[in-house]
Formats: sequence, C-alpha cells, structure tokens
Amino acid sequence: MKPSILVARAVFPQILTLLEQHFEVTANQDDTVWTPAELIQQLQGKQGVFTTGSQRIDAQLLAACPDLKICANMAVGYNNFDLNAMTAAGVLATNTPDVLTETTADFGFALIMATARRMAESERFLRAGLWTSWRYDMFAGSDVYGSTLGILGMGRIGQAIARRGAHGFGMKVIYHNRSRLDAATESACGATLVSKQELLAQSDHLILVLPYSPEAHHTIGAAELAQMKPTATLVNIARGGIVDDAALAAALKQGTIAAAGLDVFDGEPNVHPDLLTVPNVVLTPHIASATMPTRLAMAQLAADNLIGFLVNGKAMTPLNPQVVTA
Ligand code: DGY
Repeated sequence: MKPSILVARAVFPQILTLLEQHFEVTANQDDTVWTPAELIQQLQGKQGVFTTGSQRIDAQLLAACPDLKICANMAVGYNNFDLNAMTAAGVLATNTPDVLTETTADFGFALIMATARRMAESERFLRAGLWTSWRYDMFAGSDVYGSTLGILGMGRIGQAIARRGAHGFGMKVIYHNRSRLDAATESACGATLVSKQELLAQSDHLILVLPYSPEAHHTIGAAELAQMKPTATLVNIARGGIVDDAALAAALKQGTIAAAGLDVFDGEPNVHPDLLTVPNVVLTPHIASATMPTRLAMAQLAADNLIGFLVNGKAMTPLNPQVVTA
C-alpha cells in the first residue's frame, strides 16, 4: 500500500502528478488556508506532509498526528517548524536550500536598487498623473554603485548578494554574522566582517538575510535604526519579525533613515498599517524566490524529499537527520 501524504497548499500540477505516482495524495488545489485545527484534521492517517512555510508544525500538532513521519517544507526558511519538537517526536524536517539562492539574491539586489533609486514611489507619482515637468532633484535617491553594502546574516543568500555587490557594483561589502566566513569565501565575496554596531553605522545599504529565531526577533528596532546613517536604506528579505515594523515606519516618517524595501512582514500577509502610509518604502508580498524555474525547483526538491524518505528511506536535505540515524 502506498503511503498517504497531504499537500497542504496548491502546488504545480506536474508535482502533484509526480507525488501521485508514489503516494495516496490529499491535495489542496483550491489553496484553502487551514486553521491549525483543520490542518490537524487533514493530517490524520498521513505519513508525510508537503508544507509551504506557512503551516505551523509544533508539539501540539505532532501529538495529534501520530502517523506523521516527515514534513517537507517548500522553502529554505523553516521558522514554521518547531525543530526541537519534531526531533523529539521522531519526525523528519526538510527544506529547500541552494535551489533558490541566486534567484533570491537577485531579488534582494532588485529591492536594494528599487529602494535606493525610489522606483516605487516615483512610479506611483507618474501613475497618479502628477508628473508635469522635469526637476533637478525629482526623486533623487542614493547611489548603489561604489557605496557600502552591509549584510546581516552571511549564509548562502548573503554571500550571493555580496558577490553581486562587490564584483558587479564596485561596492565595499561589510557583513555581520554569528561566525566568520573562511578566508577563501570572504575573498570570493569581497566581504569584511564587522561588529553589528559598525555594520549599522557604516552601511549605505543594509540588507537582512538572517534566519528567523526567537532570538532574532526585532534585531532591527528603534535603537538600531537610530545608529544608521540618515541617508541609509534598509532591505529585509529574511523574515517578518526580524524588523520592528512599527519602529521602522516611525523612522521612515522621521527621516531617521532614507528608505526601506520589505518583502517580509511580521504577521504577513497582514502589513503594519503605518507602513502603508509612508511613501519611502517599497513593499512586496514575499516574492524573493518567485521565478517559475526556481519555484518549480523548490517544489521538486520538497517532493524529492518526501519520495526519498518515505519510499527510498533517504531524504535529500534533512534538517534533523538525527531522527533517521537514532
Ligand atoms: C524561503 O524559501 O524561505 C522563502 O522565504 C519562501 O518562503
């Protein structure tokens, strides 16, 4: 008998077809957003689940779903997983690293450019029919080429952004991270390790690429924003909650920093109402990895993890491999 799995959100039809070759699949092509109780109900009798980053897998859910053996996230971030609880319950967690690195770095850079060069703000102006003449300082932003790029969180995506900055845009690249990169990687990225304080004070453009954890909550709040240059821009492509959105909206209004670009929000898809009223912020709906080839590669890897583990006994990208080896 084939194992049973749940695909918790809508997914590419060809991925569903692939999964159906190996599993009894309960799909959700209507893309209903289930409550935690509904998710638990849908998971009854399922050995695996294909998640997309917005389904919380915690001790309460695991206790109520005793058949569950693997949760395969179609995302590199996995803050929707309580990894300790999953490990304690003997449930394997997988994510989708690598396949989205360059695409996400492209988007991070696009957001840096759009924010520094005031692209969203000026487009809204044009669409509103307000453009009546050229003016010397109209939507004058800040330079990206030759400026100082600060990167907070220097994993795969941070490094890919650093390479773009150092080698494509002649930027001085500084970074802050839990651990220092080895010398060869630092040199390939053209990046120098600095303290968090130096990063805040020296960056012309600061991008956040660190993973979310409770310790990372509000890593950037009013105190940190106050340490940045008034001409600086801030971009968050990491996770909502890393920035204090209310403090950021206030800082943008007061001119503490010049502008921000945000792809992720605390409590998304809800966006802090204050952010919607400030002009100098570019807002996008969590789309940093959203190109068709990359989203397909992410879905394929999540499916390969389910097939690899439930059919062949070996997942491709496990987060808690000790579950298998224990
Ligand atoms: C990721 O992969 O973590 C992206 O943020 C998409 O959820």
